[in-house]
Amino acid sequence: MSDKAKAAGQAAGNEYVTLVDHSTGRKFDFPLMPGSVGPKVIDVRKLYGTSGYFTYDPGYTSTGSCESKITYIDGEVGVLMHRGYKIEDLAEKTDFLEVCYLLLQGELPNAQQKAEFEHSITHHTMLHDQITYFFRGFRRDAHPMAIMVGVVGALSAFYHDSTDINDPQHRMIASHRLIAKMPTIAAWAYKYSIGQPFQYPRNNLNYAENFLQMLFAVPAEDYKVDPVLSKAINRLLILHADHEQNASTSTVRLAGSSGANPFACISAGISSLWGPSHGGANEAVLTMLDEIGHKDRIPEFIKRAKDPDDNFRLMGFGHRVYKNYDPRAKVMQQSCHEVLERLGIHDPMLELAMQLEKIALEDDYFVKRKLFPNVDFYSGIILKAMGFPTSMFTVLFAVARTVGWIAQWKEMIEDPSQKIGRPRQLYTGYDERPFVPLDKR
Ligand code: SDX
Repeated sequence: MSDKAKAAGQAAGNEYVTLVDHSTGRKFDFPLMPGSVGPKVIDVRKLYGTSGYFTYDPGYTSTGSCESKITYIDGEVGVLMHRGYKIEDLAEKTDFLEVCYLLLQGELPNAQQKAEFEHSITHHTMLHDQITYFFRGFRRDAHPMAIMVGVVGALSAFYHDSTDINDPQHRMIASHRLIAKMPTIAAWAYKYSIGQPFQYPRNNLNYAENFLQMLFAVPAEDYKVDPVLSKAINRLLILHADHEQNASTSTVRLAGSSGANPFACISAGISSLWGPSHGGANEAVLTMLDEIGHKDRIPEFIKRAKDPDDNFRLMGFGHRVYKNYDPRAKVMQQSCHEVLERLGIHDPMLELAMQLEKIALEDDYFVKRKLFPNVDFYSGIILKAMGFPTSMFTVLFAVARTVGWIAQWKEMIEDPSQKIGRPRQLYTGYDERPFVPLDKR
Protein backbone atom coordinates (compact mmCIF):
# COMPACT_ATOMS: atom_id res chain seq x y z
CA MET A 1 0.00 0.00 0.00
CA SER A 2 1.46 3.39 -0.89
CA ASP A 3 2.02 5.95 1.90
CA LYS A 4 -0.39 8.22 0.03
CA ALA A 5 -3.17 5.62 -0.01
CA LYS A 6 -2.58 4.86 3.67
CA ALA A 7 -2.66 8.56 4.61
CA ALA A 8 -5.90 8.98 2.67
CA GLY A 9 -7.37 5.95 4.41
CA GLN A 10 -6.34 7.20 7.84
CA ALA A 11 -7.82 10.62 7.05
CA ALA A 12 -11.07 8.77 6.31
CA GLY A 13 -10.87 7.14 9.75
CA ASN A 14 -9.51 3.77 8.64
CA GLU A 15 -6.96 1.97 10.81
CA TYR A 16 -3.96 -0.05 9.65
CA VAL A 17 -1.35 -2.44 11.01
CA THR A 18 2.17 -2.52 9.62
CA LEU A 19 4.10 -5.75 9.09
CA VAL A 20 7.88 -5.25 9.11
CA ASP A 21 10.00 -7.87 7.37
CA HIS A 22 13.23 -7.50 9.36
CA SER A 23 15.10 -9.76 6.91
CA THR A 24 14.67 -7.19 4.12
CA GLY A 25 13.51 -4.06 5.97
CA ARG A 26 10.34 -4.05 3.83
CA LYS A 27 7.14 -2.74 5.51
CA PHE A 28 3.59 -3.72 4.55
CA ASP A 29 0.43 -1.95 5.69
CA PHE A 30 -2.86 -3.87 6.07
CA PRO A 31 -6.31 -2.48 6.90
CA LEU A 32 -7.69 -3.21 10.38
CA MET A 33 -11.40 -4.04 9.96
CA PRO A 34 -13.73 -3.52 12.96
CA GLY A 35 -16.78 -5.71 13.57
CA SER A 36 -19.96 -4.48 15.26
CA VAL A 37 -18.72 -6.24 18.41
CA GLY A 38 -15.72 -8.45 19.12
CA PRO A 39 -12.12 -8.56 17.86
CA LYS A 40 -11.05 -6.51 14.82
CA VAL A 41 -9.51 -8.41 11.90
CA ILE A 42 -6.39 -7.68 9.89
CA ASP A 43 -7.36 -7.79 6.22
CA VAL A 44 -4.51 -9.90 4.77
CA ARG A 45 -6.12 -10.58 1.40
CA LYS A 46 -3.28 -8.70 -0.32
CA LEU A 47 -0.50 -10.19 1.86
CA TYR A 48 0.76 -12.76 -0.66
CA GLY A 49 0.45 -10.37 -3.59
CA THR A 50 2.46 -7.64 -1.83
CA SER A 51 4.92 -9.69 0.29
CA GLY A 52 5.15 -13.14 -1.30
CA TYR A 53 4.38 -14.60 2.14
CA PHE A 54 1.43 -16.71 3.36
CA THR A 55 0.01 -16.61 6.88
CA TYR A 56 0.28 -19.90 8.82
CA ASP A 57 -2.56 -20.94 11.14
CA PRO A 58 -3.28 -24.73 10.81
CA GLY A 59 -6.18 -24.88 13.31
CA TYR A 60 -7.47 -21.42 12.36
CA THR A 61 -6.93 -20.35 15.99
CA SER A 62 -6.43 -16.72 14.93
CA THR A 63 -8.09 -16.65 11.51
CA GLY A 64 -11.43 -15.18 10.49
CA SER A 65 -12.67 -17.11 7.42
CA CYS A 66 -15.62 -14.87 6.56
CA GLU A 67 -17.80 -11.95 7.57
CA SER A 68 -21.06 -13.02 9.21
CA LYS A 69 -24.09 -11.45 10.90
CA ILE A 70 -25.62 -14.66 12.25
CA THR A 71 -23.93 -15.68 15.52
CA TYR A 72 -21.59 -13.94 17.93
CA ILE A 73 -19.60 -15.69 20.66
CA ASP A 74 -17.55 -13.98 23.36
CA GLY A 75 -15.54 -16.92 24.68
CA GLU A 76 -13.87 -14.94 27.46
CA VAL A 77 -17.13 -14.16 29.26
CA GLY A 78 -19.23 -17.04 27.91
CA VAL A 79 -21.72 -15.15 25.74
CA LEU A 80 -23.57 -16.65 22.75
CA MET A 81 -25.99 -14.54 20.66
CA HIS A 82 -27.96 -15.29 17.50
CA ARG A 83 -28.68 -12.12 15.51
CA GLY A 84 -28.14 -10.19 18.78
CA TYR A 85 -30.46 -12.27 20.98
CA LYS A 86 -28.80 -14.10 23.90
CA ILE A 87 -29.07 -17.89 23.85
CA GLU A 88 -30.54 -17.91 27.37
CA ASP A 89 -33.49 -15.79 26.20
CA LEU A 90 -34.02 -17.81 23.03
CA ALA A 91 -33.88 -21.13 24.93
CA GLU A 92 -36.40 -19.89 27.49
CA LYS A 93 -38.78 -17.77 25.42
CA THR A 94 -38.95 -19.11 21.86
CA ASP A 95 -39.45 -22.39 20.04
CA PHE A 96 -37.03 -24.00 17.61
CA LEU A 97 -38.82 -22.89 14.43
CA GLU A 98 -38.75 -19.27 15.63
CA VAL A 99 -34.98 -19.63 16.05
CA CYS A 100 -34.76 -21.22 12.57
CA TYR A 101 -36.60 -18.24 11.10
CA LEU A 102 -34.33 -15.85 13.05
CA LEU A 103 -31.15 -17.55 11.80
CA LEU A 104 -32.37 -17.67 8.19
CA GLN A 105 -34.10 -14.28 7.90
CA GLY A 106 -32.28 -12.18 10.50
CA GLU A 107 -35.32 -11.25 12.58
CA LEU A 108 -37.70 -13.08 14.94
CA PRO A 109 -40.96 -13.79 13.06
CA ASN A 110 -44.22 -12.00 13.85
CA ALA A 111 -47.32 -14.17 14.30
CA GLN A 112 -48.16 -14.31 10.59
CA GLN A 113 -44.57 -14.96 9.51
CA LYS A 114 -44.29 -17.70 12.13
CA ALA A 115 -47.51 -19.37 10.97
CA GLU A 116 -46.40 -19.28 7.31
CA PHE A 117 -42.95 -20.64 8.15
CA GLU A 118 -44.40 -23.43 10.30
CA HIS A 119 -46.82 -24.34 7.50
CA SER A 120 -43.99 -24.56 4.97
CA ILE A 121 -41.77 -26.67 7.23
CA THR A 122 -44.66 -28.95 8.22
CA HIS A 123 -45.48 -29.62 4.57
CA HIS A 124 -41.92 -30.57 3.66
CA THR A 125 -41.45 -33.24 6.36
CA MET A 126 -42.30 -36.21 4.10
CA LEU A 127 -39.57 -38.06 2.19
CA HIS A 128 -39.86 -39.34 -1.40
CA ASP A 129 -40.95 -42.97 -1.02
CA GLN A 130 -37.91 -44.19 -2.99
CA ILE A 131 -35.72 -42.92 -0.15
CA THR A 132 -36.96 -45.70 2.12
CA TYR A 133 -34.83 -48.05 -0.02
CA PHE A 134 -31.65 -46.18 0.97
CA PHE A 135 -32.20 -47.18 4.59
CA ARG A 136 -32.61 -50.83 3.63
CA GLY A 137 -29.18 -50.78 2.03
CA PHE A 138 -27.56 -50.38 5.48
CA ARG A 139 -26.94 -53.13 8.01
CA ARG A 140 -29.31 -52.88 10.97
CA ASP A 141 -26.34 -52.15 13.24
CA ALA A 142 -25.02 -49.32 11.07
CA HIS A 143 -24.20 -46.21 13.12
CA PRO A 144 -27.11 -43.79 12.54
CA MET A 145 -24.64 -41.02 11.70
CA ALA A 146 -23.43 -43.15 8.76
CA ILE A 147 -27.06 -43.40 7.63
CA MET A 148 -27.54 -39.63 8.02
CA VAL A 149 -24.46 -38.88 5.90
CA GLY A 150 -25.64 -41.27 3.19
CA VAL A 151 -29.33 -40.41 3.08
CA VAL A 152 -28.89 -36.62 3.34
CA GLY A 153 -26.27 -36.71 0.60
CA ALA A 154 -28.66 -38.81 -1.48
CA LEU A 155 -31.28 -36.03 -1.32
CA SER A 156 -29.09 -34.43 -3.99
CA ALA A 157 -30.34 -37.15 -6.33
CA PHE A 158 -33.91 -36.02 -5.69
CA TYR A 159 -33.53 -32.25 -5.58
CA HIS A 160 -30.19 -31.48 -7.24
CA ASP A 161 -31.69 -30.52 -10.61
CA SER A 162 -34.42 -28.39 -9.05
CA THR A 163 -31.97 -26.38 -6.93
CA ASP A 164 -30.41 -23.43 -8.68
CA ILE A 165 -28.32 -22.09 -5.79
CA ASN A 166 -28.29 -18.66 -7.45
CA ASP A 167 -32.09 -18.46 -7.29
CA PRO A 168 -33.24 -17.05 -3.90
CA GLN A 169 -36.51 -18.98 -4.14
CA HIS A 170 -34.65 -22.25 -4.73
CA ARG A 171 -32.30 -21.48 -1.83
CA MET A 172 -35.30 -20.89 0.43
CA ILE A 173 -37.02 -24.13 -0.62
CA ALA A 174 -33.81 -26.15 -0.19
CA SER A 175 -33.38 -24.63 3.30
CA HIS A 176 -36.95 -25.47 4.28
CA ARG A 177 -36.67 -28.99 2.85
CA LEU A 178 -33.51 -29.70 4.87
CA ILE A 179 -34.88 -28.29 8.15
CA ALA A 180 -38.13 -30.20 7.65
CA LYS A 181 -36.72 -33.56 6.56
CA MET A 182 -33.88 -33.99 9.04
CA PRO A 183 -36.13 -35.18 11.91
CA THR A 184 -37.82 -37.69 9.58
CA ILE A 185 -34.47 -39.04 8.36
CA ALA A 186 -33.10 -39.14 11.92
CA ALA A 187 -36.16 -40.89 13.32
CA TRP A 188 -36.18 -43.43 10.47
CA ALA A 189 -32.46 -44.13 11.01
CA TYR A 190 -33.34 -44.95 14.63
CA LYS A 191 -36.42 -47.03 13.74
CA TYR A 192 -34.40 -48.96 11.15
CA SER A 193 -31.69 -49.74 13.73
CA ILE A 194 -34.24 -51.24 16.17
CA GLY A 195 -36.26 -53.08 13.53
CA GLN A 196 -39.44 -51.08 14.00
CA PRO A 197 -41.53 -49.70 11.11
CA PHE A 198 -41.07 -46.08 10.05
CA GLN A 199 -43.50 -43.62 11.67
CA TYR A 200 -44.69 -40.96 9.22
CA PRO A 201 -44.79 -37.24 10.11
CA ARG A 202 -48.05 -35.92 11.61
CA ASN A 203 -49.03 -32.44 10.43
CA ASN A 204 -51.08 -31.75 13.54
CA LEU A 205 -47.94 -31.80 15.75
CA ASN A 206 -45.28 -29.14 16.16
CA TYR A 207 -41.65 -29.75 15.20
CA ALA A 208 -40.47 -31.18 18.54
CA GLU A 209 -43.64 -33.23 19.12
CA ASN A 210 -43.48 -34.63 15.59
CA PHE A 211 -39.85 -35.63 16.04
CA LEU A 212 -40.68 -37.46 19.29
CA GLN A 213 -43.64 -39.33 17.76
CA MET A 214 -41.60 -40.42 14.72
CA LEU A 215 -38.93 -41.68 17.11
CA PHE A 216 -40.97 -43.38 19.81
CA ALA A 217 -44.51 -44.08 18.50
CA VAL A 218 -45.45 -47.57 17.23
CA PRO A 219 -48.39 -48.47 14.95
CA ALA A 220 -49.85 -50.74 17.61
CA GLU A 221 -50.98 -47.97 19.95
CA ASP A 222 -51.64 -44.26 20.22
CA TYR A 223 -48.68 -42.13 21.24
CA LYS A 224 -49.13 -39.19 23.58
CA VAL A 225 -46.32 -36.63 23.52
CA ASP A 226 -45.09 -35.74 27.01
CA PRO A 227 -45.01 -31.90 27.11
CA VAL A 228 -41.93 -31.93 29.36
CA LEU A 229 -40.04 -34.06 26.84
CA SER A 230 -41.12 -31.93 23.86
CA LYS A 231 -40.04 -28.82 25.81
CA ALA A 232 -36.67 -30.48 26.51
CA ILE A 233 -36.20 -31.47 22.84
CA ASN A 234 -37.21 -27.97 21.77
CA ARG A 235 -34.61 -26.48 24.11
CA LEU A 236 -31.91 -28.97 23.02
CA LEU A 237 -32.55 -28.08 19.37
CA ILE A 238 -32.27 -24.35 20.11
CA LEU A 239 -29.04 -24.80 22.08
CA HIS A 240 -27.42 -26.71 19.20
CA ALA A 241 -28.76 -24.61 16.31
CA ASP A 242 -25.70 -22.58 15.34
CA HIS A 243 -22.29 -21.72 16.69
CA GLU A 244 -20.32 -19.38 14.41
CA GLN A 245 -17.54 -20.92 12.27
CA ASN A 246 -17.08 -24.29 14.05
CA ALA A 247 -15.53 -27.23 12.21
CA SER A 248 -18.74 -28.58 10.64
CA THR A 249 -20.03 -25.12 9.65
CA SER A 250 -16.67 -24.31 8.10
CA THR A 251 -16.91 -27.64 6.23
CA VAL A 252 -20.33 -26.65 4.85
CA ARG A 253 -19.06 -23.21 3.82
CA LEU A 254 -15.98 -24.65 2.12
CA ALA A 255 -18.01 -27.31 0.28
CA GLY A 256 -20.58 -24.68 -0.71
CA SER A 257 -17.93 -22.25 -1.94
CA SER A 258 -17.38 -24.50 -4.97
CA GLY A 259 -21.07 -24.23 -5.89
CA ALA A 260 -21.93 -27.74 -4.66
CA ASN A 261 -25.64 -28.25 -4.00
CA PRO A 262 -26.84 -27.65 -0.40
CA PHE A 263 -27.77 -31.29 0.23
CA ALA A 264 -24.22 -32.43 -0.54
CA CYS A 265 -22.84 -29.60 1.62
CA ILE A 266 -25.01 -30.53 4.61
CA SER A 267 -23.94 -34.15 4.23
CA ALA A 268 -20.32 -32.96 4.44
CA GLY A 269 -21.21 -31.01 7.59
CA ILE A 270 -22.74 -34.12 9.17
CA SER A 271 -19.53 -36.02 8.46
CA SER A 272 -17.42 -33.36 10.19
CA LEU A 273 -19.78 -33.10 13.17
CA TRP A 274 -19.44 -36.86 13.77
CA GLY A 275 -15.89 -36.52 15.10
CA PRO A 276 -15.45 -37.02 18.91
CA SER A 277 -13.66 -33.67 19.18
CA HIS A 278 -16.78 -31.97 17.81
CA GLY A 279 -20.38 -33.13 17.83
CA GLY A 280 -19.43 -36.73 18.57
CA ALA A 281 -18.37 -35.60 22.06
CA ASN A 282 -21.90 -35.98 23.51
CA GLU A 283 -21.78 -39.71 22.75
CA ALA A 284 -18.16 -39.85 24.01
CA VAL A 285 -19.16 -38.21 27.33
CA LEU A 286 -21.57 -41.04 28.15
CA THR A 287 -18.97 -43.64 27.13
CA MET A 288 -16.45 -41.87 29.40
CA LEU A 289 -18.87 -41.67 32.35
CA ASP A 290 -19.66 -45.35 31.83
CA GLU A 291 -15.93 -46.14 31.93
CA ILE A 292 -15.39 -44.04 35.08
CA GLY A 293 -18.33 -45.85 36.66
CA HIS A 294 -17.97 -44.50 40.21
CA LYS A 295 -16.91 -41.22 41.80
CA ASP A 296 -14.02 -43.00 43.53
CA ARG A 297 -12.41 -43.46 40.08
CA ILE A 298 -12.66 -39.78 39.10
CA PRO A 299 -9.12 -38.92 40.33
CA GLU A 300 -7.70 -41.70 38.13
CA PHE A 301 -9.33 -40.23 35.03
CA ILE A 302 -8.49 -36.64 35.93
CA LYS A 303 -4.86 -37.80 36.21
CA ARG A 304 -5.08 -39.43 32.79
CA ALA A 305 -6.64 -36.29 31.27
CA LYS A 306 -3.69 -34.26 32.57
CA ASP A 307 -1.03 -36.73 31.39
CA PRO A 308 0.55 -35.38 28.16
CA ASP A 309 1.54 -38.95 27.25
CA ASP A 310 -2.04 -40.22 27.54
CA ASN A 311 -4.34 -39.19 24.69
CA PHE A 312 -7.36 -39.50 26.99
CA ARG A 313 -9.24 -36.20 27.30
CA LEU A 314 -12.13 -35.25 29.53
CA MET A 315 -14.94 -35.42 26.96
CA GLY A 316 -17.42 -32.56 27.20
CA PHE A 317 -14.69 -30.31 28.60
CA GLY A 318 -12.77 -27.55 26.90
CA HIS A 319 -13.53 -25.46 23.86
CA ARG A 320 -11.57 -23.60 21.21
CA VAL A 321 -13.52 -20.40 21.82
CA TYR A 322 -15.06 -20.60 25.31
CA LYS A 323 -12.50 -19.87 28.01
CA ASN A 324 -15.40 -19.61 30.45
CA TYR A 325 -18.51 -21.68 31.08
CA ASP A 326 -20.32 -22.52 27.79
CA PRO A 327 -23.67 -20.73 28.31
CA ARG A 328 -25.40 -23.65 26.61
CA ALA A 329 -24.01 -26.07 29.21
CA LYS A 330 -25.64 -24.07 32.02
CA VAL A 331 -29.07 -24.23 30.33
CA MET A 332 -28.47 -27.90 29.56
CA GLN A 333 -27.66 -28.69 33.19
CA GLN A 334 -30.92 -27.04 34.30
CA SER A 335 -32.84 -28.98 31.66
CA CYS A 336 -31.17 -32.17 32.86
CA HIS A 337 -32.57 -31.75 36.37
CA GLU A 338 -36.06 -30.92 35.01
CA VAL A 339 -36.22 -33.97 32.72
CA LEU A 340 -34.86 -36.44 35.27
CA GLU A 341 -37.25 -35.10 37.91
CA ARG A 342 -40.22 -35.25 35.52
CA LEU A 343 -39.38 -38.80 34.55
CA GLY A 344 -38.69 -39.75 38.15
CA ILE A 345 -35.25 -40.98 37.14
CA HIS A 346 -32.35 -40.90 39.55
CA ASP A 347 -29.46 -41.35 37.13
CA PRO A 348 -26.15 -41.89 38.94
CA MET A 349 -24.51 -40.65 35.73
CA LEU A 350 -25.77 -37.14 36.51
CA GLU A 351 -24.35 -37.27 40.01
CA LEU A 352 -21.09 -38.60 38.59
CA ALA A 353 -21.00 -35.83 35.94
CA MET A 354 -21.59 -33.12 38.53
CA GLN A 355 -18.91 -34.59 40.81
CA LEU A 356 -16.49 -34.77 37.87
CA GLU A 357 -17.26 -31.17 36.94
CA LYS A 358 -16.72 -30.00 40.52
CA ILE A 359 -13.37 -31.77 40.88
CA ALA A 360 -12.11 -30.64 37.45
CA LEU A 361 -13.08 -27.01 38.04
CA GLU A 362 -11.08 -27.04 41.27
CA ASP A 363 -8.01 -28.57 39.58
CA ASP A 364 -5.25 -26.14 38.57
CA TYR A 365 -4.63 -27.96 35.26
CA PHE A 366 -8.17 -27.20 34.09
CA VAL A 367 -8.35 -23.76 35.72
CA LYS A 368 -5.03 -22.64 34.17
CA ARG A 369 -6.14 -23.84 30.71
CA LYS A 370 -9.64 -22.40 31.18
CA LEU A 371 -11.26 -25.76 30.49
CA PHE A 372 -14.96 -25.66 31.36
CA PRO A 373 -17.90 -27.98 30.55
CA ASN A 374 -19.17 -27.40 27.03
CA VAL A 375 -22.51 -28.02 25.34
CA ASP A 376 -21.84 -31.77 25.12
CA PHE A 377 -21.20 -32.40 28.81
CA TYR A 378 -24.81 -32.69 29.97
CA SER A 379 -26.77 -33.23 26.76
CA GLY A 380 -26.12 -36.97 26.68
CA ILE A 381 -27.57 -37.48 30.16
CA ILE A 382 -30.84 -35.82 29.12
CA LEU A 383 -31.01 -37.79 25.88
CA LYS A 384 -30.30 -41.06 27.70
CA ALA A 385 -33.10 -40.28 30.18
CA MET A 386 -35.46 -39.61 27.25
CA GLY A 387 -34.74 -43.03 25.79
CA PHE A 388 -32.23 -42.15 23.05
CA PRO A 389 -29.41 -44.67 22.58
CA THR A 390 -25.96 -43.02 22.72
CA SER A 391 -25.54 -43.64 18.99
CA MET A 392 -28.40 -41.15 18.38
CA PHE A 393 -26.92 -38.28 20.42
CA THR A 394 -24.87 -36.76 17.59
CA VAL A 395 -27.79 -37.36 15.22
CA LEU A 396 -29.88 -35.00 17.36
CA PHE A 397 -27.04 -32.50 17.24
CA ALA A 398 -27.06 -32.77 13.41
CA VAL A 399 -30.85 -32.29 13.28
CA ALA A 400 -30.48 -29.07 15.28
CA ARG A 401 -27.34 -27.78 13.54
CA THR A 402 -28.82 -28.17 10.05
CA VAL A 403 -30.47 -24.74 10.35
CA GLY A 404 -27.15 -23.18 11.37
CA TRP A 405 -25.32 -24.86 8.53
CA ILE A 406 -27.90 -23.85 5.93
CA ALA A 407 -28.17 -20.28 7.26
CA GLN A 408 -24.38 -19.91 7.05
CA TRP A 409 -24.37 -21.54 3.58
CA LYS A 410 -27.09 -19.11 2.43
CA GLU A 411 -25.16 -16.13 3.86
CA MET A 412 -22.03 -17.26 2.00
CA ILE A 413 -23.86 -17.72 -1.33
CA GLU A 414 -25.46 -14.27 -0.92
CA ASP A 415 -22.11 -12.62 -0.06
CA PRO A 416 -20.99 -10.80 -3.23
CA SER A 417 -17.34 -11.02 -2.11
CA GLN A 418 -17.35 -14.80 -1.59
CA LYS A 419 -14.87 -16.87 -3.60
CA ILE A 420 -14.09 -20.57 -3.73
CA GLY A 421 -12.18 -21.45 -0.56
CA ARG A 422 -8.63 -22.49 -1.46
CA PRO A 423 -6.09 -22.29 1.43
CA ARG A 424 -2.32 -22.49 0.73
CA GLN A 425 0.37 -24.26 2.81
CA LEU A 426 3.87 -24.24 4.25
CA TYR A 427 5.62 -26.83 2.04
CA THR A 428 8.36 -28.81 3.82
CA GLY A 429 8.65 -31.74 1.42
CA TYR A 430 11.42 -32.52 -1.14
CA ASP A 431 12.63 -29.85 -3.53
CA GLU A 432 12.99 -31.04 -7.17
CA ARG A 433 15.03 -34.26 -7.51
CA PRO A 434 15.93 -36.56 -10.47
CA PHE A 435 13.47 -39.36 -11.31
CA VAL A 436 14.62 -42.90 -10.26
CA PRO A 437 13.51 -45.67 -12.65
CA LEU A 438 11.97 -48.82 -11.14
CA ASP A 439 15.04 -51.02 -11.73
CA LYS A 440 17.20 -48.52 -9.83
CA ARG A 441 14.99 -48.24 -6.67
C1 SDX B 1 -18.23 -28.83 20.13
O1 SDX B 1 -16.22 -25.04 17.74
C2 SDX B 1 -17.39 -25.13 18.22
O2 SDX B 1 -18.08 -24.16 18.39
C3 SDX B 1 -17.83 -26.56 18.54
C4 SDX B 1 -19.18 -26.69 19.25
C5 SDX B 1 -20.33 -26.25 18.39
O3 SDX B 1 -21.39 -25.91 18.94
O4 SDX B 1 -20.19 -26.37 17.12
O5 SDX B 1 -19.19 -25.90 20.44
C6 SDX B 1 -19.45 -28.14 19.62
O6 SDX B 1 -17.53 -29.42 19.36
C7 SDX B 1 -17.86 -28.71 21.59
C8 SDX B 1 -16.51 -29.40 21.95
C9 SDX B 1 -16.79 -30.89 22.11
N1 SDX B 1 -15.52 -31.66 22.23
C10 SDX B 1 -15.13 -32.19 23.41
O7 SDX B 1 -15.74 -32.05 24.47
C11 SDX B 1 -13.89 -33.05 23.29
C12 SDX B 1 -12.92 -32.73 24.45
N2 SDX B 1 -12.40 -31.38 24.24
C13 SDX B 1 -11.11 -31.27 23.58
O8 SDX B 1 -10.83 -32.24 22.62
C14 SDX B 1 -10.75 -29.83 23.22
O9 SDX B 1 -11.04 -29.06 24.31
C15 SDX B 1 -11.37 -29.20 21.99
C16 SDX B 1 -11.16 -30.01 20.77
C17 SDX B 1 -12.84 -28.97 22.19
C18 SDX B 1 -10.70 -27.83 21.79
O10 SDX B 1 -9.37 -28.09 21.54
P1 SDX B 1 -8.33 -26.89 21.21
O11 SDX B 1 -9.01 -25.57 21.19
O12 SDX B 1 -7.56 -27.28 20.00
O13 SDX B 1 -7.44 -26.86 22.48
P2 SDX B 1 -6.08 -27.62 22.63
O14 SDX B 1 -6.22 -29.02 22.15
O15 SDX B 1 -5.01 -26.76 22.06
O16 SDX B 1 -5.95 -27.68 24.23
C19 SDX B 1 -5.30 -26.66 24.96
C20 SDX B 1 -4.74 -27.37 26.19
C21 SDX B 1 -3.89 -28.60 25.83
O17 SDX B 1 -2.97 -28.81 26.90
P3 SDX B 1 -1.43 -28.24 26.71
O18 SDX B 1 -0.93 -28.85 25.41
O19 SDX B 1 -1.57 -26.75 26.69
O20 SDX B 1 -0.72 -28.79 27.95
O21 SDX B 1 -5.83 -27.89 26.98
C22 SDX B 1 -5.76 -29.32 27.01
C23 SDX B 1 -4.87 -29.75 25.86
O22 SDX B 1 -4.25 -30.99 26.15
N3 SDX B 1 -7.14 -29.80 26.85
C24 SDX B 1 -7.66 -30.80 27.55
C25 SDX B 1 -9.00 -30.89 27.13
N4 SDX B 1 -9.23 -29.97 26.19
C26 SDX B 1 -8.08 -29.29 26.02
N5 SDX B 1 -7.13 -31.63 28.48
C27 SDX B 1 -7.97 -32.55 29.00
N6 SDX B 1 -9.28 -32.70 28.65
C28 SDX B 1 -9.82 -31.87 27.71
N7 SDX B 1 -11.10 -32.02 27.38
